Amino acid sequence: MTKRDVVRAILRDRRLEPAGEARAFAPANIALCKYWGKRDEELNLPVTPSLSVSLGALGAETALSVVDGPDVVIVNGASADDRVVRRVTDYLDLFRPEPDVGYRVETNSSVPLAAGLASSSSGFAALALALNTLYDWKLDARALSILARLGSGSACRSLYPGFARWRAGERADGMDSYAEPIEAEWPAFRIGLLTLSAAPKPIGSREAMRRTRETSLLYRSWPDKVRGDIAAIEAAIRARDLPALGEAAESNALAMHGTMMDTRPPIIYWLPETVTALRAVFQLRADGVPVYATMDAGPNVKILFEKQHAADVRERFPDIRIIDVHNTDARCPFPDAG
Ligand code: PMV
Repeated sequence: MTKRDVVRAILRDRRLEPAGEARAFAPANIALCKYWGKRDEELNLPVTPSLSVSLGALGAETALSVVDGPDVVIVNGASADDRVVRRVTDYLDLFRPEPDVGYRVETNSSVPLAAGLASSSSGFAALALALNTLYDWKLDARALSILARLGSGSACRSLYPGFARWRAGERADGMDSYAEPIEAEWPAFRIGLLTLSAAPKPIGSREAMRRTRETSLLYRSWPDKVRGDIAAIEAAIRARDLPALGEAAESNALAMHGTMMDTRPPIIYWLPETVTALRAVFQLRADGVPVYATMDAGPNVKILFEKQHAADVRERFPDIRIIDVHNTDARCPFPDAG
């Protein structure tokens, strides 16, 4: 099964007749229960389900149009680097009316790129949404989530504001592997972003996942771990129970990094600053402030807490960027869903 087969099945007899320029916004998302490991590398099908929260108005704003000649990819006002251009071009290859038709993609991303801060999630979700608008396909959220997944797994969760759950699915074509919103709001919920390093990652998440699956014995217990954590996190969201959510999310992130450390050769994304930040979170908690940490495939730390503790968090981490996850600026494509 190839990406092309999936695109064909989703678009059916829809046409590739571009209409001027299309614009779309998609929020970045941070997993509270992580996606780690693919059961199908071509289609980005996950071994387990995962659960995320979107970063409100923080994400990617993309303008898309058709041009004569090769693709032009501009990120934050400058030509994108070769690696990004290749990924975007490969993705757009799935949607060319003629092989020689190029696209102009201009993205403004309000999340730091390639630092484990979920930039590819919003980028590919915004691109899938912009394609839908450019060609006036009128696809539903499920189909768009699947198309976004073909660009980057976690992008399938970036169509919604608030909390979302990505079903792992079982089918080989992945038509049952898409994200859906969790119908629960938690107005006081906050995420703090601690950017400890914006340097490019030593190893991409695709390669890191592959190596983990192939060589980590600990990874064998990961599906069980996710089963327990995702149920606890979803229940905690509905109950607005920050300690229950935080304990499960923090443990889930640390376990994911544990599987990477168990991998040969080992993968350690952490920097000394990562450990310092984690210890500061633990200390703040010991001092009575309910704060918890999560991390992705990078050294940066995200802190989970509620609004009433924002002053304590800011005092301890003066450079933190605090996100009100439900403040979407009403720009989310499916705002009524979450
Ligand atoms: O979507 P990808 O291939 O960038 O993978 C993201 C993996 C993690 O960020 C580490 C976890 C997650 O669920 O987002």
